[in-house]
Order: sequence, then structure tokens, then C-alpha cells
Amino acid sequence: MKLPMSAPSQDPGWVLCRARRHDAAAVKALFWKLHAFNAGLDPRFALTEDWEAQLDPTLDQALGGREVLCLIARERGTGQPCGFALAAIHRDAGLWRHHEWVEVEALYVAEEWRGRALAAALLARACAWAVSVGQPVVQLYVTANNERALRFYRQEGFQQTQAILRKVLT
Ligand SMILES: CC(C)(COP(=O)(O)OP(=O)(O)OC[C@H]1O[C@@H](n2cnc3c(N)ncnc32)[C@H](O)[C@@H]1OP(=O)(O)O)[C@@H](O)C(=O)NCCC(=O)NCCS
Repeated sequence: MKLPMSAPSQDPGWVLCRARRHDAAAVKALFWKLHAFNAGLDPRFALTEDWEAQLDPTLDQALGGREVLCLIARERGTGQPCGFALAAIHRDAGLWRHHEWVEVEALYVAEEWRGRALAAALLARACAWAVSVGQPVVQLYVTANNERALRFYRQEGFQQTQAILRKVLT
């Protein structure tokens, strides 16, 4: 007897994987776009002149080690980069009972790919990685007026636990 064919799962249109050496330029381009976006909300997110060189060691760590995760999504077919995430194990001083967690340091989805579950897929992969390296807590910073990101993170189960207050002393 023939078994009924299961419905083919819908292709989201992107392919998501851990970044490899040849993805470095694409990750940097997305990183730049993320920070241009963030700097539009808060100028203190502006990158330095040598930001690429500063980012290199983190990318090297992501390629090799267990401490940093870099994910990249590319459009199926064209290979065009459409999103990325960077997460790393954060270690605070040992005097704190809870001094380790995974921090999502960057998450960006290209404008034309927003609202299509790619952000959720990137975040889910980062959270799965956190669990796989023995870190059940994931934290991140969001600019207070980044309403779309805040709404997205809340929908993904993140709750605000602290606030950063700033006073600029000219
Ligand atoms: C944050 C980001 C990764 C989320 O990805 P996304 O694909 O936009 O997320 P989704 O569309 O799945 O979810 C966003 C939610 O905000 C809603 N939303 C859409 N536009 C919005 C807007 N202008 N303002 C507020 N909420 C908005 C969406 O409707 C959705 O909520 P819903 O599911 O109830 O409809 C993406 O928007 C992005 O890359 N933004 C620029 C970079 C950034 O802010 N990164 C995070 C820095 S911490």
C-alpha cells in the first residue's frame, strides 16, 4: 500500500547557516547596515574608522570556537545575504552567583526580508546554540526607541529586566 505523501514543507526562501570564512565580507556588510540603522536611533552606536579590524577577532572566534556564534542567511538561489546574528558567551566577575549568559550582540534582517520569520529563525538558532553550550540564559540590549525590535523580542519571549540610564556631561 502506498503511504500518502506528506505535504512538502514551505521553502522560506532563505538558507541559514553558521558563517564560514568566505562569509566574512557579507557579515561585515550586514554589520555595517545594522549599525547605520542603530546610529540613526542613537548616535552613540556609530562605528569607528577601524571597525572592520576590530570586528575581525570576533569573527575569527566565531569561525573556530565554542564561545561565539555567527549566523548568516542568504537568499536561496541568488545567494544574496539577507540577515545575520552574532551571539557570544558573556562572563561577568565571579563574585556574582549568575555571572554567565549568552548575549545576542547583533541581529539584523535586510529590509525586504522583514516580517517573514527570518528574524525568529536567527534568534531560535542563537538560543539553541546557547543551550548547546550549557547557557540557558540569553540577554541582549535594545535601543529604547527601537519599537519594532522591542516588539519582536517581546513576542519571542524576552522580558525587560533592566534599563540603561545615560546623562551626557558636555
Ligand atoms: C529587529 C528585526 C531583526 C526584527 O525582524 P522583523 O522581520 O522585522 O520582525 P517581525 O516582522 O517578525 O516582527 C516585528 C514585529 O513588529 C511589528 N512591526 C512591524 N513594523 C513595525 C513598526 N514600524 N513599529 C513597530 N512594530 C512594527 C511587526 O508587525 C511584528 O509584530 P506582529 O508579529 O505582531 O505583526 C528587524 O526588524 C531588523 O533587522 N531591524 C533593524 C535592526 C535591528 O533593529 N536589530 C535589532 C537591534 S537590537
